[in-house]
Amino acid sequence: MLLRKKKNIVGLDIGSSAVKLVELKQGKGGRYSLLHAGHALLSPEAIVEGTVMDSSLVIEVAQRLIQEQGTKNPNFGVSLSGSTVAIRKIQVPAMSEAELAESIHWEAEQYLPFDVNTVNLDYVVLNSDADTMDVLLVAAKKDRVADYTSIVAQLGKVPALVDVDVFAVQNAYEHNYGVPTDRVVALVNVGAHVMNLNILAHGQSVAWRDIAFGGNNYTDAIQRELNLTRDQAEAVKSGEQLGDHTPQTILSVLNGVSEELSDHLQKTFEFFYTTSSYDHVDEIVLAGGACQVLNLDNVLKERLNARVEVMNPFREIDFSESQFPPEWLNRHAPAMTVAVGMALRTVGE
Ligand SMILES: Nc1ncnc2c1ncn2[C@@H]1O[C@H](COP(=O)(O)OP(=O)(O)OP(=O)(O)O)[C@@H](O)[C@H]1O
Ligand SMILES: [Mg+2]
Repeated sequence: MLLRKKKNIVGLDIGSSAVKLVELKQGKGGRYSLLHAGHALLSPEAIVEGTVMDSSLVIEVAQRLIQEQGTKNPNFGVSLSGSTVAIRKIQVPAMSEAELAESIHWEAEQYLPFDVNTVNLDYVVLNSDADTMDVLLVAAKKDRVADYTSIVAQLGKVPALVDVDVFAVQNAYEHNYGVPTDRVVALVNVGAHVMNLNILAHGQSVAWRDIAFGGNNYTDAIQRELNLTRDQAEAVKSGEQLGDHTPQTILSVLNGVSEELSDHLQKTFEFFYTTSSYDHVDEIVLAGGACQVLNLDNVLKERLNARVEVMNPFREIDFSESQFPPEWLNRHAPAMTVAVGMALRTVGE
C-alpha cells in the first residue's frame, strides 16, 4: 500500500477581536515555511463573551481573508477556549482501550462541570501502570463546536480540526522552542476577552485555565480614565498617538490593569502549587495580541518573580520577506500563535 501524504491544515483562529489565518508547508527536510498569514479585525458585536452573536459578520471577514490569501487548501481548523471548554486530568482503574471507550462518558460525568450529553468528548491516556491510568479529558460544549464548524462549512471548507487554544499555543511553543524539560514554564496567551494559561512542568502540560481577562480590560480602563471612545482607547493602547496621549503617557493606567492581570495569574499559580509538587514558575512565555501592552512583561517579571519572554510563533518557520514584510509579521505575530499551533497539525492527528 502506498503511504498517504499527510494533509496540512489551515489554522483559522476566530477570536473575539480579530480573525487570524495561517497556512504552513512542510519541506523535504521537515522544516516548515509560511504559505499564508492573514489578520483581520472583527467588529465587537460579532463575538461577545466568547459566543458567536453574528456569524454572518465572522463569515464575511474570514471569506475576505481567504480570498486575499488565495489559499486552495479545503481543510480548516478552528480553536475554542473559555467557559465552554473543560480540560481535566483524571485517574481511572487500569482497563483496556475498548473498556475505556465504553466507560469514558460515565467517568467524565463525575469530573466535568457540564452535563456529559451536551459535550463533545476527547481523551488521551497519559500514563498507566498495573492499577491505574491517567487520562487527559477534553470536553467542549456541542453547540459551541457546532457554531465554529458551521462557520467553516459556510465558508465552503472542511472542518478538519477542532483544537483548544491552550493546546494550540503549546504546540506553537514546542515547535519553536522545544519541550522545556528542565523548568516550569507558564504559557500565557492574552487575547481580547480571555487569557489562556497552560503550565508545562518538566515537559508535561499539567494545568490549564482560561481566565476572562485580557485586552478589553485595558481598553475599558483607558476609556473610563481618559474619557475616550472605545476605538480611541484601542488605538492609544496599541501605540498610536492621540492628542497628547500615547502608551507612555497613560502608563499608570496600563500598569494598574497589568497588576490585576498579574493577580489573576498569581491566584492560578498558587492553586497549582497546592495541587502539585511544584512551588515555583520559572518562566512566563507570553502570546496573544494583548501581551504587547507596554510594560506588561516588566510588571509580571517583578510581581511574579519569573523570567518573562514574548513568544515568536514564527521563530523556526521560514518565510519570504517580500511576501511577509517583517514589520507586519512582527506586529501580528503574538496574535497569530493559536493559528500557527493549528497549522502545525495534520488532518486526522
Ligand atoms: N500593539 C498592541 N499593544 C497592545 N495591545 C494590542 C496590540 N495589538 C493588539 N492588541 C490587543 O490584543 C487583543 C487582540 O489579541 P488576539 O487577537 O490575541 O485576541 P482574540 O483572539 O481576538 O481574542 P479572544 O481570544 O480573547 O477572543 C486586543 O485587545 C487588542 O487591542
Ligand atoms: Mg484568541
